[in-house]
Amino acid sequence: MLYGHDKVNILMNPTPISYLANVSKDLGIELYLKRDDMTCLGTGGNKLRKLEYLIKDAMDKGATMLLTTGGAQTNHGRLTAASASHFGLKVAIVAVDEYPGEISANLILDGIMGCPVYLVHNDGTRTKQELANEAFAKVTEEWEAKGEKVYFICTGGSSNIGMLGYYDCALELDKQLKEMSLSDVRVITTVGSMGTYMGLFAGQKNENLDFRLTGIAIEPFPDGIEKTAIEYYNSCKEEFGLKFEAKESDFDMTCDYHRGAYNNPSKEVRESIYYLGRKEGIIMDPCYTGKTFAGIKEMVEKGEIAKGETVVMLHSGGIPGIYTKHHRV
Ligand SMILES: Cc1ncc(COP(=O)(O)O)c(C=O)c1O
Repeated sequence: MLYGHDKVNILMNPTPISYLANVSKDLGIELYLKRDDMTCLGTGGNKLRKLEYLIKDAMDKGATMLLTTGGAQTNHGRLTAASASHFGLKVAIVAVDEYPGEISANLILDGIMGCPVYLVHNDGTRTKQELANEAFAKVTEEWEAKGEKVYFICTGGSSNIGMLGYYDCALELDKQLKEMSLSDVRVITTVGSMGTYMGLFAGQKNENLDFRLTGIAIEPFPDGIEKTAIEYYNSCKEEFGLKFEAKESDFDMTCDYHRGAYNNPSKEVRESIYYLGRKEGIIMDPCYTGKTFAGIKEMVEKGEIAKGETVVMLHSGGIPGIYTKHHRV
């Protein structure tokens, strides 16, 4: 129970921490991975931690169906579908996105798990958000007319309740680091819709945990990443009565390694994925974790991560992205 919110059990915690001996030797740092890619439903990934809280909230509110959103190839949608199957709920995804030209990767998995994906063409007549809101209303109406009670989950599950999953993870990680006698640790996570980073941040600050936290953004934040972060944190603080008073300077996040745009294929990321696969037999994805890992390599080269530093990167999953047309060619 965290701040009055309970969760359902999906994960088999704790997720393991792997030491990357070969890469550590090459880079001159001590590099570990927190294996949230090894979470147990729908091929795994970070969203399951958020969904543990979100599904409990949905069920407490009497929902029979989950509705969520993202891109056509959303990892979060796939894991929402998996969790819905597990708990006997109906599920659908709305994506304001174009058909990617084939049913591949997450779209195959969504189909296997019985999750319809409603693709909405962006005709430019309204904003993307307006189109999405209209589609959410239409799909909700359609399913509620059939007797379902729909619970909406925002992009990436990055709501206040969703971030509690990574608040929990901060505590889990701290316990593991102590058991492993690791000190002066820097935890590095990918930043997309920010719930993962925010949960780790809120957990670390409010529980006075020892590790440092750095976020690597996978897309630009035009309104400023710290501004987005403080607004998100303060909303959680107000809702849950968090004690820690945050300032923008408390957030350690970089937008230097997003390679231009969301899901943009890039040589550096591709090479980093191949390098890790060949050195350690561990697979990362091109949109999120591969970008973060490429960022870590560059941060070491530039001295932004010091030689000898102990780094624990969160492997947040996303592997199906490898099988999209976009990244295969
Ligand atoms: C594989 C993977 N890693 C990291 C992230 C980023 O997490 P967050 O959206 O909580 O910032 C996502 C989000 O979709 C993801 O799918």
